[in-house]
Amino acid sequence: MPLPGDDHLFEKRKTRLAVLVSGGGSNLQALIDAIYVRGEIDGDISVVISSNAGAFALKRAEQFRIPAAVASLKDHGSPESRDAFILKTLREYAADYVILAGYLGILTDGLVKAYENRIVNIHPALLPKFGGKNYHGLNVHRAVIEAGERKSGATVHFVDTGVDTGLAIAQESLKVLPEDTPQSLQARILDEIEHPLLVRVVRDLCDGKIKVADGKVVYEK
Ligand code: GRF
Repeated sequence: MPLPGDDHLFEKRKTRLAVLVSGGGSNLQALIDAIYVRGEIDGDISVVISSNAGAFALKRAEQFRIPAAVASLKDHGSPESRDAFILKTLREYAADYVILAGYLGILTDGLVKAYENRIVNIHPALLPKFGGKNYHGLNVHRAVIEAGERKSGATVHFVDTGVDTGLAIAQESLKVLPEDTPQSLQARILDEIEHPLLVRVVRDLCDGKIKVADGKVVYEK
């Protein structure tokens, strides 16, 4: 039976996030700002894992004293051994969710299954269009412009064992302008859509508003 003054023992444990990165880390920064600067997300970034030791994202983690690890294919030799290391790190930091924020590696099936429905990715296009192995970075936006699409945007989805094929959680779009180049489209989508969309979804994930039931996403908005 709880005694007076014991309330703190029953405080909700904050959701623990692991953020996987590969490059500049602007999506990571959007999450850091939302959590630690604006206090908009009831969660913690427990660890940042980078596929590359030179990623600027690591500097961002360091600046906010967030523990970080490097899990590169170069050091581990195979995707399986790299992902065994990632899984060990996720368990060490008791991560509840894994957020792929500009992460360029493709996770092995073993890792995806160990964290089934708990790995989320943000992709800079309106999936299922312009997704898959070759669609990353500027390639996505170049393909969108070449196809004459009138709209593009970003999709946040759960990660399954395919590439960009998991259940969609949220998607937002903007107009492709006649004067858009792959660079300008990438910049607008990153700024106007990806950052706020990722923050919103991660916030709702931490609040327990997003679940998977019977193979469908249930999003209580
Ligand atoms: C951009 O290409 C973005 O569209 C994609 O990841 C890259 C951004 O990475 N989702 P980062 O978050 O700035 O490292």
